[in-house]
Amino acid sequence: IETAELLIFGELPDEEERAEFRSLLTENSALHQDMGKHFDGFPTNAHPMSILSAMISALQSHDLPEHQFTDANGFREAAASLIAKTRTIAAASYKSHVGQPIIYPRYDLNYAENFLHMMFSVPYRDYEATPEEAHALNMFLVLHADHEQNCSTSTVRMVASSGANLYASVSAGVNALWGPLHGGANMQVIEMLERIRQGAMTTRDYVARVKDRKSGAKLMGFGHRVYRNFDPRARILKDAADRLLDAMHITDPLLDIARELEQVALADDYFVSRRLYPNVDFYSGIILRAIGIPVDMFTVMFAIGRTPGWIAHWKEVTDNPRQRIYR
Ligand code: ACO
Repeated sequence: IETAELLIFGELPDEEERAEFRSLLTENSALHQDMGKHFDGFPTNAHPMSILSAMISALQSHDLPEHQFTDANGFREAAASLIAKTRTIAAASYKSHVGQPIIYPRYDLNYAENFLHMMFSVPYRDYEATPEEAHALNMFLVLHADHEQNCSTSTVRMVASSGANLYASVSAGVNALWGPLHGGANMQVIEMLERIRQGAMTTRDYVARVKDRKSGAKLMGFGHRVYRNFDPRARILKDAADRLLDAMHITDPLLDIARELEQVALADDYFVSRRLYPNVDFYSGIILRAIGIPVDMFTVMFAIGRTPGWIAHWKEVTDNPRQRIYR
């Protein structure tokens, strides 16, 4: 939450501001009762990203009236509401998908713990996240919080430049993030590793397939428009995945396959000459799997993390008195 405040308001909060923003988040974490009805309108197999973008758009009708969040206090509340409710919507979409009742947020848990509670508690048993899980999730969210003019952030800024409201702009960002070349890659990485694990092919076969341009296959979680070297976030996530699995006494064969795939690729001239290295999506799924997040929620997890960054960019565009519409 401190990271979110730093991004959105440009400086770290003092004690008082921190307490006030946290309390705004807490007060805004539950969805309007009527929003629950929207979940019933989606088929049970609906993709959680489609639910998230639709619900963020719908949220605008239930939250503050649009004219109120252009002043500083209204904006603070809208930002807190969006950060808090993106997480609530994400967990509720999972509950609808698995046919369990939606779980209300708790006021005594921190941001990451509360998400895990809403995901995994059931009415007859509360889920208590371990400190390792909560820490890993918190770190995942911080690492995804913002990353300059990427595809979804540029989308948010584009939409914001027309004067569109915060919710409309962020909802557009969610849709841009969904694509497999952007945030959607985190799901695709796990699906790729799973195919290798199930024996459909070895890591070397997969790399050979990627190099065969006719196959159209890519090494998912590799390459980046800006980084022509190791994405620093990938390094942190790789170490964190190791530590988390150790602490939880889990062995995940997909982590071994990912490490091997990385080694094979980084020794291959195709990748070396094109300066393709692991990006943020290559190891993040291993952490999410260990916490128990299902694969089709991975891109939603990215969206929860990126929401503060999108809000900060919306504010930057909207606050600029010389802002003109993008085209
Ligand atoms: N696997 C195989 N080949 C690749 C890969 C890859 N993952 N990424 C790039 N290449 C190849 C391209 O085909 C191109 O080859 P060529 O020069 O022979 O035509 C060369 O490397 C250069 O790539 P660019 O086209 O310059 O890459 P660009 O900057 O346009 O795209 C992108 C970046 C979309 C991330 C790309 O690397 C990719 O598709 N990666 C896989 C998907 C992925 O992991 N996306 C997540 C990115 S991080 C994020 O958005 C959160």
